[in-house]
Amino acid sequence: MKKILVACGGGDCPGLNAVIRGISRAAKHYGDIEVWGSMEAFNGVLSEPADIVKLNKKRTAGIHVKGGTIIRTTNKGNPLAFPILQSDGTYATKDRSGELIKKIRKNGFDAVINIGGDGSQKISLELYKKGLNIIGVPKTIDNDLSATDRTFGFATAVQIATDCFDKLVTTAESHHRVIIMEVMGRDAGWIALHTAIAGGAEICLIPEIPYDIKKVVKKINKRYTKGRGFVNIVISEGAKAKNGTVTGTAGTDGDTHVKLGGVANVLRHQLETNGCKGQVRSTILGHIQRGGTPTAYDRILATAMGVKAIEMVVDQQFGKMVSFRNNKISSVSLKSAVSEYNFVDKKNYLVNVARKMGISFGD
Ligand code: F6P
Repeated sequence: MKKILVACGGGDCPGLNAVIRGISRAAKHYGDIEVWGSMEAFNGVLSEPADIVKLNKKRTAGIHVKGGTIIRTTNKGNPLAFPILQSDGTYATKDRSGELIKKIRKNGFDAVINIGGDGSQKISLELYKKGLNIIGVPKTIDNDLSATDRTFGFATAVQIATDCFDKLVTTAESHHRVIIMEVMGRDAGWIALHTAIAGGAEICLIPEIPYDIKKVVKKINKRYTKGRGFVNIVISEGAKAKNGTVTGTAGTDGDTHVKLGGVANVLRHQLETNGCKGQVRSTILGHIQRGGTPTAYDRILATAMGVKAIEMVVDQQFGKMVSFRNNKISSVSLKSAVSEYNFVDKKNYLVNVARKMGISFGD
């Protein structure tokens, strides 16, 4: 292995730079492996001239403490369904995977490390099937990949959400209010569940447990008739009422992803029209959860994953993804990595902990 390419796909995530630095540094242990980065996922390789940068020691020094990614990222770079703007303003898609693989080879790359979530690893798998020497590194604040116990970025997102929650508690308490805080997580309630326990919420609403608004109101009103007279709720962006639908909008500008967000306002309206005794306010944290400095835990996990990625490249373990299982860094096949989504199981120990701590899921 002489020359490898690194790409980041999907949303940014605290720890991406720590992975890049880990790859760049660990490559030096194996002699003269050159590490390059493709700007904005694979778009850098696809563009003419190629937009690729050498990830040498100078460029990667000290970047592990920074959020985001120095090689940028995009949701609009799927080489298998590349968005092409049409004259009427709509987008059609084109399979550019063959062209991508040719360009990767033409630029002399022996292997590729693709850092990304579920969508990016599905792309890795397809490129592997087409003959590319590729390995994946899992990334997502949502912690929704089943083949790894943890993804870097998740701990940082939970810490940010918990810090915000703590600030909202003081206002809820001072004003006797019901404050709803919406967190990210897509179809998995991990960020909400962890934040609710860390912060000490009264109610936690997650996609895996559709809520009964009457039960939510009952729990709130009980706190107003006897008890402390304020309530803090954490709701995951993908949560919905029983028989309800998820709150989201279609992606724009060639991004096929449905944009989740706004369920906190939907819940506020539901509470206000279902007899809730408290004055209700809602806060949507949004991208603040993905920004800034990664926690020490995420820096360590991300660095370890970067080092493992290089080891896998050297050992030619292509078609696999780095994984963190049972406190060990290991690897799994890309096929199994993308086959199952990591939902919060109702029997998960943290669901039990939350219930025993008096947190209602509205069920
Ligand atoms: O997957 C990470 C994530 O932050 C989700 O929690 C959220 O739904 C989504 O990305 C937001 O994506 P975008 O940055 O494209 O709005």
